[in-house]
Amino acid sequence: MSPHRPVIAIYPGSFDPITKGHEDLVRRTLRVTDRLVIAVSSTSTESKEHLFDVNERVELIQEIFAKNDHVEVSRFDGLLVDFARDLGAQVVIRGLRAVSDFDYELQMAQMNQELGPEIETLFLVPEVEYSFLSASLVREVASLGGDVSRFVSAVVLRRLKEKIG
Ligand code: PNS
Repeated sequence: MSPHRPVIAIYPGSFDPITKGHEDLVRRTLRVTDRLVIAVSSTSTESKEHLFDVNERVELIQEIFAKNDHVEVSRFDGLLVDFARDLGAQVVIRGLRAVSDFDYELQMAQMNQELGPEIETLFLVPEVEYSFLSASLVREVASLGGDVSRFVSAVVLRRLKEKIG
C-alpha cells in the first residue's frame, strides 16, 4: 500500500445500542486509521429483533461522535464487502472480547476474505473493563430495570429509558 494512501476503515455491527465497549473500539481504531465509517447493519446474519430501528441506531452514534471529524456513520443493507468496496475502505474492524467471540469472528472474517480478498479484517481488543459488555446484555439489564449507566453514553441511556420506560 502506498504510504500516502489514507487508510479507510469500516466498523460494522448491529450497535443495538452502541455501548462504551464499541466507543472504546472506535477510539482505538482512530489510532491506526485516517478515517472510520461506522456501518450500522439494518439486518444481521442472526436475523435478530432490534430494540432500536436502524435510523435510531445511526442517530445515536452520530450524536456521540458529532465532534469527531474522522468518524462517519452510515447504515448498510447488503453484503459488507460490497459496502466496503463502494467506500474504498481497505480495512474491516471487529472487536474480540474473549475466546468465545473467536469462532464466529473467524468464520465471518474468512467468508469476507473469500468475498473481498482485497479487504483485510483487523481485530482489536477492548479495554478489559468492557470485556464482558455486549449490547444484548445492556438491552436485557435495562429491560429488567437494572442500571446500565456505566455501560452506555448519556444519550443512549436517555433513549433506553424512553423506549423501555
Ligand atoms: O454486531 P453484530 O451483530 O455482531 O454484527 C454482525 C455484522 C452486521 C457485522 C454481520 O452480520 C454482517 O457483516 N452483515 C452483513 C451481511 C454480510 O456481509 N454477510 C456476510 C459476512 S459473513
